[in-house]
Amino acid sequence: MVRKEFDLKITEKRDEATDAVTLKLEIPENLQEEFKAEAGQFIGVTAQINGEAVHRSYSLSSSPLEGNFQEISIKKVLNGKMSTYLVDEVKEGQTLKVVPPSGHFYKESENEKNHVMFAAGSGVTPMLSIIRYLKEKKPNDQISLFYWNKTVKSTMFHKELNELMREMPKLHVYWGYTQENIEGCDFTQRVCDKDLKSCFYNWSVSLKTPVFYLCGPESFMSIIEVFLGTKGYDSSQIRKENFFINVEPVKAPAESIDEDGKVLVGDKSLEKIKSGSEAKGVAVLDGDKIEVEFQDEETILESLLRSGENPPYSCMEGTCIACQCRVTEGLVSMPAETFLSEDELEEGLILSCQAFPKSKNVKVDFDDL
Ligand SMILES: Cc1cc2nc3c(=O)[nH]c(=O)nc-3n(C[C@H](O)[C@H](O)[C@H](O)COP(=O)(O)OP(=O)(O)OC[C@H]3O[C@@H](n4cnc5c(N)ncnc54)[C@H](O)[C@@H]3O)c2cc1C
Ligand code: FES
Repeated sequence: MVRKEFDLKITEKRDEATDAVTLKLEIPENLQEEFKAEAGQFIGVTAQINGEAVHRSYSLSSSPLEGNFQEISIKKVLNGKMSTYLVDEVKEGQTLKVVPPSGHFYKESENEKNHVMFAAGSGVTPMLSIIRYLKEKKPNDQISLFYWNKTVKSTMFHKELNELMREMPKLHVYWGYTQENIEGCDFTQRVCDKDLKSCFYNWSVSLKTPVFYLCGPESFMSIIEVFLGTKGYDSSQIRKENFFINVEPVKAPAESIDEDGKVLVGDKSLEKIKSGSEAKGVAVLDGDKIEVEFQDEETILESLLRSGENPPYSCMEGTCIACQCRVTEGLVSMPAETFLSEDELEEGLILSCQAFPKSKNVKVDFDDL
């Protein structure tokens, strides 16, 4: 399997909060083009843990404008394989296998000048990368970060965000602590409608057209998303980064599973090609239209990587959703069980690391999600 990953050396490991660390990774000059990042993107990390190759994604906490290093910040989850390894065991001087940055959490736009961020726990990581970027590139943009944690000690970047607030007059951080009530704390319970209403009532979030960034547990993001819906905000104004797919894989309905045990996504009226037949395709990726020759037994993601392209991906195992794209023409097959919902499959969304072309021409779009 083609996995475009590179050895990066950990040049610094520092404590960030209780059970959380930041790892600084050196980007040698010959890899700087490959590792060019955008604000809020994530990298894929592979480590050998107890003889098993474990793959996980981590958002960059550093500014994308840093050329010769990138930082990731990891919070340990209970019994977590990779997070425990990175927080407790990995040492400065060691190398990690890393897939270059990808993701679309932040989008560059001249019209978006009011950034409203909601983060819980390690969900603050991509926000920090975006804040650091805006500090350099758009110092006049308004940024409000609403940030929930259990306690001050468990809060990643507490000191740093306070310093950034002093340096950036247009940045304001509002702190929520669910397990302590201290001076300067803006919220004293888990996120709820009452507090969200006060965000809008007391603070000037809605003065200019806001763009919302959400990152934290699914339940946290869904309370905020529903609230924003009731306030009339359109889904195009809401960006979500899902760190943790906490649902069981969904099995597609029996009637949509074919004789090979796969779900067909796309134009089902098309004649299905047999394995071994040639299939061609076009992939829309970062605004470019790329022609691809698919090979038998190769997923759409693998064909793109073999062709030297840079599609977003991380786990290659169907669990992180980083490689999601939309089938806009043709037919593809996917395993009957995936982390995509029935509605998403119906809409034409697929995981390119799990999807095989099943018609002669297939078009997929990684930009229109
Ligand atoms: C795009 C993306 C960006 C990410 N960025 C970051 C980041 O910047 N910092 C960071 O710390 N993590 C981040 N994550 C989460 C990270 O990839 C891992 O999922 C996390 O570190 C847990 O992996 P693990 O191997 O330690 O846990 P596993 O061994 O996979 O899981 C162990 C147990 O913990 C539960 N679990 C797994 N993940 C979580 C979670 N996130 N929260 C609560 N419970 C969990 C599982 O259900 C299981 O019971 C990101 C994930 C994605 C998809
Ligand atoms: S790369 Fe993770 S789901 Fe496809």
